[in-house]
Amino acid sequence: MKEKIQQFLKEISAFSGENKEEVEQFRIKYLSKKGLIPSLFGEFRAVAPELRKEMGQALNELKIKAQDKFNQLTEKLDDNSQETDNDLDLSLPVDFHELGARHPLSIVRNSIIEIFARLGYTISEGPEIEDDMHNFTALNFPLDHPARDMQDTFFIEKNPDIALRTHTSSVQVRVMKNQKPPIRTISPGRVFRNEAISARAHCIFHQVEGLYINKNVSFADLKQTLLYFSREFFGENTQIRLRPSYFPFTEPSAEMDISCNICGGKGCNICKYTGWVEILGCGMVDPNVLENCGIDSEIYTGFAFGMGIERIAMLKYQINDIRLFFENNKRFLKQFESAN
Ligand code: DAH
Repeated sequence: MKEKIQQFLKEISAFSGENKEEVEQFRIKYLSKKGLIPSLFGEFRAVAPELRKEMGQALNELKIKAQDKFNQLTEKLDDNSQETDNDLDLSLPVDFHELGARHPLSIVRNSIIEIFARLGYTISEGPEIEDDMHNFTALNFPLDHPARDMQDTFFIEKNPDIALRTHTSSVQVRVMKNQKPPIRTISPGRVFRNEAISARAHCIFHQVEGLYINKNVSFADLKQTLLYFSREFFGENTQIRLRPSYFPFTEPSAEMDISCNICGGKGCNICKYTGWVEILGCGMVDPNVLENCGIDSEIYTGFAFGMGIERIAMLKYQINDIRLFFENNKRFLKQFESAN
């Protein structure tokens, strides 16, 4: 027995547990109920009386040594693990809550509004759910005219007179009916078309409509206003060109291109190697529209224009998929933080 005690003492003082499992094995081997030390206590009963004192002391010493060793190692391992858990640097700056960024469509809309505000334009808004009168008829779309098919409309099933507006030109009608010239206004808003969603088209998008009605407003005024806007928004070297087009509510009508802001007009895949990109439709307000809205077309003339905010934003920031605007992916949106 004496030899066993001696041997265990040696083993115990030499033991150094590297991890919790090894220390637990140590505890099981020496200290658990069926461990070596309790079994020595079992053998102690058979020790001759004259040796009992000495053996008893040695056994107790062994037990204490083993228990101490176990306690020490457990403590050490606990300390180490606390150090890694609490690997905090309290001197670091506070982790501020992340701030959101403005949506690129809001940035572009605000910038368009701001440029026209400098020219004295007010902002006007109208309802997204419109009637046929404001969306089509007053704008000189005759009933059954194929021009109505230019815009795939979402109608309300039970009442085909009610539809989601297909363009913000409907706001023109509301403004002209309610205000007297001179009128200078722009109308930003959401519009809806029954189109298949793709990289280039969406069934919900945004437009800004512009309207100027006064005495002696000419096509030259329209051209100069659009040139000013284009240079303010896309840069001072921007050129514009107007191509004849057709809209029921303007006569004459045109589509406006700007010199490609990506390649500067040299030709790239954004402008399809033409050097020009289309950004809006415009024209002189058709006298029929003025009359439909209670404005005397013998006294007043005016111009109007309409552009898609997504299209303008895609050109400005070189975004190649319209769907990105509606996905609200934080990694996409964060890129525009500095553009606020
Ligand atoms: N409403 C037209 C569209 O959605 C855009 C437009 C073209 C508006 C010419 C106008 C305009 O005011 O004069 O395609």
